[in-house]
Amino acid sequence: MIITLTNQKGGCGKSTATMNLALGTAALNYKTALIDADEQRSCLDTLQEYPKANLSLYEAGKDIGDLVATLKDDFHFIFIDTPPHSHHIMHKAMAVSDFIIIPLQASPLDIHSAKRTIDACQKVQEKVDREIPCYFLLNRVNPRTKLSKEIGNYIRELYTVPLLQSRLHNRVAYAQSLMHGKSVIEHNRSSDAAMEVKKLLKEVHRIFQKDLKK
Ligand SMILES: Nc1ncnc2c1ncn2[C@@H]1O[C@H](COP(=O)(O)OP(=O)(O)O)[C@@H](O)[C@H]1O
Ligand SMILES: [Mg+2]
Repeated sequence: MIITLTNQKGGCGKSTATMNLALGTAALNYKTALIDADEQRSCLDTLQEYPKANLSLYEAGKDIGDLVATLKDDFHFIFIDTPPHSHHIMHKAMAVSDFIIIPLQASPLDIHSAKRTIDACQKVQEKVDREIPCYFLLNRVNPRTKLSKEIGNYIRELYTVPLLQSRLHNRVAYAQSLMHGKSVIEHNRSSDAAMEVKKLLKEVHRIFQKDLKK
């Protein structure tokens, strides 16, 4: 299963979510690859000092399609982190994906700026002539507000792209754990952050299976 995390807006949590998901599937004993297609190398710089069982790290640029083709049969999960503003690499990553996640912060500004990413996602699907499940992921949601329900309605009014039920809250654990090359799951298995990442993994897997059977 090839999962790309993308959004042309920087700072919405692509790299944080990619690393937590990839470390999560690796910890569950799935053979996992994380491809960092961003020249800022956030994932590589954060994780390469901390080798993990079941996790292989790769960097890629315009060659991403070829790299995915060579890795595809060797891994249960391949996660791709994409750069902001780079249409070319982002399009190529989307084109080889089975599933696309668009992380989004819970604010009208971020929601409106997702339009270009969604347009790109639709164009790619037309070009490859294949439906690719594409979902928003609300990130950095404040655990103490009821804003997310309102935000959910706001997104539904603007876009047809569905919103994952799972969401990631704004928690220091996301930065703290990665300082030691760990996901929030490895950092504290029973924490709220670990629970929400596990829930997200399960939801993505469930949607993907359902889609396969369609
Ligand atoms: N759920 C979260 N809770 C707290 N901080 C977060 C969360 N997700 C991301 N961040 C922080 O937000 C900043 C941007 O995240 P990053 O993953 O680098 O975004 P992107 O890759 O989209 O540019 C980083 O400082 C990261 O630690
Ligand atoms: Mg990033």
